[in-house]
Amino acid sequence: MAWSAAHHREGVTIGLVPTMGALHAGHRALIKTARLFCDAVVVSLFVNPAQFGPKEDYSRYPRKPKADAALCKKEGVDVLFAPPVGEIYPDGFQTTVSVPTLAHRWEGEQRPGHFEGMATVVTKLLTLVRPTAAFFGQKDFQQAALIKRLVEDLNLGARVIVYPTVREADGLALSSRNVFLTPEQRRAAPALFQALKAGRAAIRTGGRSGAKIQQVMRKTLVAEPMARLDYLAVCNPDSLEPLRQVRDRAVLLGAIRIGRIRLIDNLLVTC
Ligand code: PAJ
Repeated sequence: MAWSAAHHREGVTIGLVPTMGALHAGHRALIKTARLFCDAVVVSLFVNPAQFGPKEDYSRYPRKPKADAALCKKEGVDVLFAPPVGEIYPDGFQTTVSVPTLAHRWEGEQRPGHFEGMATVVTKLLTLVRPTAAFFGQKDFQQAALIKRLVEDLNLGARVIVYPTVREADGLALSSRNVFLTPEQRRAAPALFQALKAGRAAIRTGGRSGAKIQQVMRKTLVAEPMARLDYLAVCNPDSLEPLRQVRDRAVLLGAIRIGRIRLIDNLLVTC
């Protein structure tokens, strides 16, 4: 991007907020944080086909380009980068970025190919925009962990900033896909956060066995009959491997399905 090169020459710091659009208050918090840290802010808006499986919701994914542009304007975003698919993946494109050890469990296991597609596009965005700092949400904990790793491994030179999850009043993590929930499903959706909170409470009251904490979370989740469990896990926040014993820190990772809608969430717990 010539724009980035000119800004770098002038010593202007650039913040990048990568998104797939249908922007909500979670995205807005990332944009506001980027504004605080950096002189100029770039928001990318690209529904990345490579990170959706063949049976996933690429074609149904919410798209609101006008509302997104208005939000970016209101937040003082300098550049809204919304490339067409052919600009990111021109004919003949074949390179894939893979972070295999961090990707093999949890979301990676449930969504084969998802993290390769995500890592590839994020690498492209970071290479195109060359930001001083890039901003991601803790909501997608495993995604953020992979991105930190690949930025370091490939010397991409951006600081990776991870912002806490923005939630509705009842605890449901904001997500572009929440608009698909029926009112009944919406009432059931906070069950995932409830389960994670039960796990956190177990740790705070002295629980240290990973298996027992997992059991507490599962028990809480089954109280909501509409929720189907994908996984609830007690993990090392750096490796994302399951913990037998919690020592000083753990991340509680969870994913459920309500109808056809998949929800993910997590809580970072320090003892
Ligand atoms: P998307 O789901 O649009 O999310 C864009 C960024 O917003 C991600 O870093 C995500 O973690 C963050 N985010 C989403 N919901 C949030 C919430 N409730 N609170 C705080 N941050 C939240 O994640 C992606 O897009 C894509 O995988 C992308 C990184 C853009 C690559 O295609």
